[in-house]
Amino acid sequence: MIKNEGIEKIIDESQQGNSLTLEKNEKNTRKLYIESYGCQMNFSDSEIVASILAKEGFNTTQKLEEADLVLVNTCSIREKAELTIRKRLEKFNAVKKTNPGMKVGVLGCMAERLKSKFLEEEKIVDMVVGPDAYKDLPNLIQEINEGRNAVNVILSKDETYGDVAPVRLNSNGVTAFVSITRGCDNMCTFCVVPFTRGRERSRDPKSILEEVNDLWERGFKEVTLLGQNVDSYLWYGGGLKKDFEKASEMQKAVSVNFANLLELVARAQPKMRIRFSTSNPQDMTLDVIESMAKYENICDYIHLPVQSGSNRILKAMNRLHTREEYFKLIDNIRKIIPDCAISQDMIAGFPTETEEDHQDTLSLMEYVKYDYGFMFAYSERPGTMAARKLDDDIPEQTKKRRLQEIIEIQRKHSFFRTQQHMGKTEEVLIEGVSKKSDAHWMGRNSQNTVVVFPKENYKVGDFVHVKINECTSATLIGEAVGYSKNN
Ligand code: SAH
Ligand code: F3S
Repeated sequence: MIKNEGIEKIIDESQQGNSLTLEKNEKNTRKLYIESYGCQMNFSDSEIVASILAKEGFNTTQKLEEADLVLVNTCSIREKAELTIRKRLEKFNAVKKTNPGMKVGVLGCMAERLKSKFLEEEKIVDMVVGPDAYKDLPNLIQEINEGRNAVNVILSKDETYGDVAPVRLNSNGVTAFVSITRGCDNMCTFCVVPFTRGRERSRDPKSILEEVNDLWERGFKEVTLLGQNVDSYLWYGGGLKKDFEKASEMQKAVSVNFANLLELVARAQPKMRIRFSTSNPQDMTLDVIESMAKYENICDYIHLPVQSGSNRILKAMNRLHTREEYFKLIDNIRKIIPDCAISQDMIAGFPTETEEDHQDTLSLMEYVKYDYGFMFAYSERPGTMAARKLDDDIPEQTKKRRLQEIIEIQRKHSFFRTQQHMGKTEEVLIEGVSKKSDAHWMGRNSQNTVVVFPKENYKVGDFVHVKINECTSATLIGEAVGYSKNN
């Protein structure tokens, strides 16, 4: 019996560090150990970093003890994420006793947030590099090799790394991330991302298409287009999103929005599955949903964080939509794509949240019945509007209890959703061996639900029709009945 594959979705994803390796280049002599925490964007960025450093003579290793350079791509989203990284640095400190030549660099959001303070607070750290400064890594590494500390945390107006071909680290060879925007202009009051990742800018669709086409040539079968707020994607020849109004009429006329981009990608590789993450309700327009419906290869799945079901709290969070507008969006999605899976992010215990506000969250969940979700207790982040203007006044115990209630209701809904697949035959893209059983494959259906089934003669990367016979709240279990036409 296979149980709960993928249930970790409801566990804080920022706690999961993952060391990454890539194919060896025989000419390279230096050894890089790189570990990523937090969101998919960080994992994607680490692939860009590995690509930049491969040209500098680095091969990746999974052994800390033999590394010349250790890089940690950090997450600041909640306090716990930062504490996890500080713990990890202690471990590096211990390893340094046996590997004294080892240099340690911190990348990502925590680097951007703490800047040179990081060097003072954590003696093990030699180098601090923010998310827009990875192209400077060769110079910074030279600095630290000459015995100086190095810091570059400059945020950029136009850096999208569009011209860096990421090397795929620890890849399953089937699914890949392609980043399409960087930064975020939304300024949700609880969120540190606009401070650590800067203003929003979009990547040239030409370089996105080149990356997608290249992935297809190399055997990949699915891409996830990545951004903090993908629906806000807007290419008008470069520059910040906020400067679009200043663009020429000509630039505006040929601009590409997210719905356009989705269609471009879907048409470029009609056999490739297309996913995207994350959507923000206030920026998701009907044309995006219609584009999804128009192309079979765009998956029927939307990650649509709402954070709270209370209008008062949504306003305090600076989420620029109401509960009623969110319901309207959900209704439209269900009308245009009846089988669309929808997932959420929720925050329990935002400052001033009352029991009534919390009940609004539960009733919103009851209305939507999400397929799954990522749920968190509010964690105050220094520098954010919420930290500056509001007391973190909900007791930890209350936050925990409310979070638990949210998780419980989600578990119930997840089970309700997986049950709807019972008896159906669905297309599954095989990603690898099941975590729970060597005799089974693990893949996903269009709705992004994990499906597990006996291997038979199928292989990784095959599109297979699977009849669903059993389910848990997170996993569908079935048997293959043949290849799908996409194969
Ligand atoms: N738009 C981004 C959101 C990044 S943060 C994206 O691409 O997903 C991911 C989630 O972390 C948010 O949706 C929110 O639910 C949660 N989060 C962000 N800041 C938080 C905080 N201060 N406390 C608790 N949870 C937080
Ligand atoms: Fe954060 Fe809100 Fe942007 S959650 S990443 S500020 S959409």
